[in-house]
Amino acid sequence: MKHVGVLLLLPTLFWAQATSADWLVEAPDEGTRYERLEQYLGGFSAAMWETHHRYEMLHEALTLDNPELALYHWEKIRDAIRGGYMKRPARQANSDAIFLDVIWPDVHEALRSDDADIRWAAFMRARSACMACHVAEDVEYMNRQRVFTELVAPED
Ligand code: HEC
Repeated sequence: MKHVGVLLLLPTLFWAQATSADWLVEAPDEGTRYERLEQYLGGFSAAMWETHHRYEMLHEALTLDNPELALYHWEKIRDAIRGGYMKRPARQANSDAIFLDVIWPDVHEALRSDDADIRWAAFMRARSACMACHVAEDVEYMNRQRVFTELVAPED
């Protein structure tokens, strides 16, 4: 009977270690520490999660006629995508060729315009580049969701 208590305690001890609040400081070794960090920071999809949010905020900023806010999110989108391909280098070629090298600076320039039509045209160019990269990366199904089907420039 004496052993039953110990057996009952074992899973509790294991769980306590696995879920310690000091999950990095108390990791059993360096390798585990970096594995935990890599896992938690995620891959390209984590970068797309941020990109998605900021792209919606970009649309909202243009709707509210707040170009400074639009520019802010546009700059953060570039950083998010770069962070994404730092973690997943295979995504860099298409990110640069389809989005960052040419479209990104053009849209950046256009978002500074005083003319709302020019800013919205830039948004639609950005949207096309997002969607083109999804096709190039074999995730075309990403284009069939509200963020792309509903968030467009207003019709005059
Ligand atoms: C490399 C080219 C590339 C570019 C540029 C790109 N995407 Fe993506 N996107 C991907 C890939 C690949 C995935 C799937 C990620 C995965 O499975 O790891 C994805 C996934 C997504 C998702 C789903 C994310 C989730 O898990 O919730 C959204 C939303 C998205 N992209 C929006 C955008 C928007 C908006 C832009 C433009 C501002 C954009 N993407 C630009 C390649 C790209």
